[in-house]
Amino acid sequence: MIEREVIHTNKVSKRIMDVVQDLSEFFVVFVKILIELLQRFFEKMMTKKFKDISGEIILITGAGHGIGRELALHYTAWGSVVVCVDINEKNNEETLKKAKRLMQNSVYAYTCDVSDREAVLQLAAKVEAEVGRVSVLVNNVGIMPTHPLEQHTPEEIRRVFDINVLSHFWTLEAFLPQMKQQYRGHIICISSIAGVVGLTNLVPYCATKFAVRGMMEALHQELRDGPYKDFIKLTLIYPYMTNTGLCKRPKVKFPSMLGLLDPKEVAKKIVEAHRANVTETTIPSSLLHINNWCRLLPIRCSLLLKDYIDSGVESDL
Ligand SMILES: NC(=O)c1ccc[n+]([C@@H]2O[C@H](COP(=O)([O-])OP(=O)(O)OC[C@H]3O[C@@H](n4cnc5c(N)ncnc54)[C@H](O)[C@@H]3O)[C@@H](O)[C@H]2O)c1
Ligand SMILES: *[C@@H]1O[C@H](CO)[C@@H](O)[C@H](O)[C@H]1NC(C)=O
Repeated sequence: MIEREVIHTNKVSKRIMDVVQDLSEFFVVFVKILIELLQRFFEKMMTKKFKDISGEIILITGAGHGIGRELALHYTAWGSVVVCVDINEKNNEETLKKAKRLMQNSVYAYTCDVSDREAVLQLAAKVEAEVGRVSVLVNNVGIMPTHPLEQHTPEEIRRVFDINVLSHFWTLEAFLPQMKQQYRGHIICISSIAGVVGLTNLVPYCATKFAVRGMMEALHQELRDGPYKDFIKLTLIYPYMTNTGLCKRPKVKFPSMLGLLDPKEVAKKIVEAHRANVTETTIPSSLLHINNWCRLLPIRCSLLLKDYIDSGVESDL
């Protein structure tokens, strides 16, 4: 009888100890979060720190046009070695020519369909032999079929996933091991505002851009759990509509506040986020904060705000 009671009290006190232990661990986390918040607050008030990217070997997909081309020019101007990759050889050569005017010897162009795994793996071997080991990968390629869901053909839906999502897996397979070998790397992916909010005429496209968000968050966690935590950085960018021709029929209610962005400006912001090791940001950066706050509101409230902003794209058919 007495023995049983002793066992019982032992069990109870063990449970109390466990709870105390859990609570004290939580308290430590809570204090760490407060310290982190204070640090971020003071960092915001000081001038931003940027890392040097001269000499990095930076591979950009979709460098033949739009944001990718502007990125190639920006990185060249910063003194990086730039590897331009595009399916469109002619446009890519044009980027190469423009970049060479800035810096003669540190730009390369390769033609490759990044949705083709074999082609990407071959590209990686070629680039490693001819240029060196890539330390920065910019997954920028994207296409955007724009019409109501029923009017998307199955081929179109497969293609947009092949190009906007699966290509990331092939470039990661090709270049992440090179970064791990060097204990040095940065992966930058271009999602979209369409990866933050769902939009009419863009059901498959939004699905691909949300997918990139999930992929990057999971990869970030996986790298944090391993030995590459402080060596391989990830940056995810969600740009607003940009004047590259990708958005064929943009719909903008407030052109002065939320007009189409200039691809040069977008490229500049992307390079800044890269150099500051920013994990994720929208362009303009205010949109991510607005979205995060909106998600706290009941859905009808954020819908009211969405209706007020009323930006998007009309069908291209
Ligand atoms: N333009 C916008 O409004 C906007 C807004 C948000 C996000 N984005 C995203 O930014 C990225 C760049 O957009 P952009 O407007 O500069 O596009 P763009 O059409 O101007 O350029 C894309 C480039 O990618 C190349 N490309 C397409 N498929 C390819 C493939 N399979 N393999 C290799 N290259 C391929 C094209 O030839 C082209 O040169 C995309 O991911 C896009 O979704 C664009
Ligand atoms: C960014 O990360 C790299 C690699 O971990 C580090 O060397 C650099 O100091 C960081 N720079 C900034 C501005 O945070």
